[in-house]
Amino acid sequence: MVGKIGIIGGGNIGGVCAAEIASRRLARRVALVDVKPPEFARGKCLDIAEGTPVIGTDTVLEGSKGYEVLAGADFVINTAGVPRAMRADGTFPSREELLATNLRITDAVAAGIRQYCPDAFVVSIANPLDAIVYRLHQQLKDRLPVRKLMGMAGVLDSARYKYFVAQAAGVSVENVEAVVLGGHGDTMVPIRSACRIYGLPVTKFIDEDELAAIEDRVRKAGGEVVSLLGSGSAFVSPAWSALEMITSIAFDKKKITSVCAHLDGEYGVTGLFVGVPAILGREGVEKIIEIDLSDEERTALANSVAAVSRTCAEVDKVGK
Ligand code: APR
Repeated sequence: MVGKIGIIGGGNIGGVCAAEIASRRLARRVALVDVKPPEFARGKCLDIAEGTPVIGTDTVLEGSKGYEVLAGADFVINTAGVPRAMRADGTFPSREELLATNLRITDAVAAGIRQYCPDAFVVSIANPLDAIVYRLHQQLKDRLPVRKLMGMAGVLDSARYKYFVAQAAGVSVENVEAVVLGGHGDTMVPIRSACRIYGLPVTKFIDEDELAAIEDRVRKAGGEVVSLLGSGSAFVSPAWSALEMITSIAFDKKKITSVCAHLDGEYGVTGLFVGVPAILGREGVEKIIEIDLSDEERTALANSVAAVSRTCAEVDKVGK
């Protein structure tokens, strides 16, 4: 069991994270920070805490507007930031359009982590995902090693790919292996050559046209949920995905997991955080796994990395 997990941002994703940590008995303590008045974080925690006798868990939940509750956290999940939401005309912004607002919030998040829990593993979910992780690194690099800082996107993007493939093939989601590489945006790259059903190539089960449609749906899956919900964006699946990463690290499972990780030459990329498969264990991101790609997949990944790089260049312009 983990000692303490801190959650920054107690909205939709943060709330599911807190409730799930308690119901799974993943940590002894949960600390939730949210600046929303009047005492939103305390309210969220009290709601969950009052349910703990029902599910028989002794997880202690503490909510606050201030970051001091994070002191002693072993892990921090960052969900602070505005989500995508549908506009009155039925359109919705790209994740990149959230950058200006969420960068300001991220700087406050980084300051809070630095002051109260600089030794924690940090899993960030706020969008635009890859650029926000890059910003956290900029602000914390003298204190937080890159192996302990990661973004949650690949677990979710791969899960969406697995789900659509399982539906189309009429098999259990547990039979499907799938990988999505690149940035957590519309340029993300579902890797068909690594998609397997019961160890067999996915093309044995689903024809190429249907697979192409599935992969397009994967790239746009976040937007599909935004447009169906009408307000806000996906929150249960992102929360579960972040906890999957924490579980692998906390229990030193060494599970190969898609994660937005710092690259130092892998996949020909240096100095950016991009979605790749990595072994997650007690050291955090222990090893990046490089998988063989087709020419088409390599080009698509380069395109996605270029998109991440452009958004990070916007981050650089803002300065510290
Ligand atoms: N410190 C702590 N919490 C903050 C701060 C801050 N500086 N600024 C904003 N928050 C809180 C908000 O008050 C809000 O309750 O972050 C919470 C975000 O919750 P939601 O608006 O419900 O958004 P959610 O759906 O949880 O998504 C959070 O993750 O997937 C991404 O695009 C999504 O960037 C968004 C983030």
